[in-house]
Amino acid sequence: QQVTVLRRRLKAWFRKHGRSLPWRETRDPYQIWVSEIMLQQTTVKAVVPYFERFLARFPQVEALAAASEEEVLQAWEGLGYYSRGRNLRQAAVEICERFHGEFPKGLDDLQSLPGIGRYTAGAIRSFAFDLPAPIVEANTLRLYCRLLGYDGDPRDRTGERLLWSFAERLQPQRNAGELNQALMELGSQVCTPASPLCDQCPVSSHCRAFADSSQNSIPWKRER
Ligand code: ADE
Repeated sequence: QQVTVLRRRLKAWFRKHGRSLPWRETRDPYQIWVSEIMLQQTTVKAVVPYFERFLARFPQVEALAAASEEEVLQAWEGLGYYSRGRNLRQAAVEICERFHGEFPKGLDDLQSLPGIGRYTAGAIRSFAFDLPAPIVEANTLRLYCRLLGYDGDPRDRTGERLLWSFAERLQPQRNAGELNQALMELGSQVCTPASPLCDQCPVSSHCRAFADSSQNSIPWKRER
């Protein structure tokens, strides 16, 4: 079946070409959460040193929940978008109060926490607990649009529904975390916004955009 082949090729490619990043070396949901919040508006390269410093200062969710907002924002200084830091602390308090310091595994519980949306909930659930959870963010959105040959607006209702259901279909019952890391890595390293490296792509034979040579006009962008 198509999806099975796609998954197998993605994982094989990732094992060979995936970068080793600090948050990929752990299964601790707390660390994965902190990394995903930092990565929301900041590049991987800029996040790495902040991530390490932040964890040295607040090693577990209890330490973050016990800190004052001022202390947390001080550790956040330089990353920008300070509401992320405020939400992080508030969510830590709620994890301690509502979930007794244990990270929830369910998408709805995760999304009930401040600053955790559909993508971040899926990232935590799959990366930390290896449970199936669709993910759509900037890198995977571009990859899915091209695989599907979808030239409509990926951010309107139709586009969102299509992309989330495609992401859902890709989810395996086991090792969802590795597959999602592979999808994101392929999106960021090969299926790049401009001039994607299709000759290095392990799934180009499954890609509608590649078949149609439309990879440079997909995904659809407003300002064209
Ligand atoms: N951007 C957002 N989440 C990421 C992750 N887990 N790895 C690499 N880049 C990311």
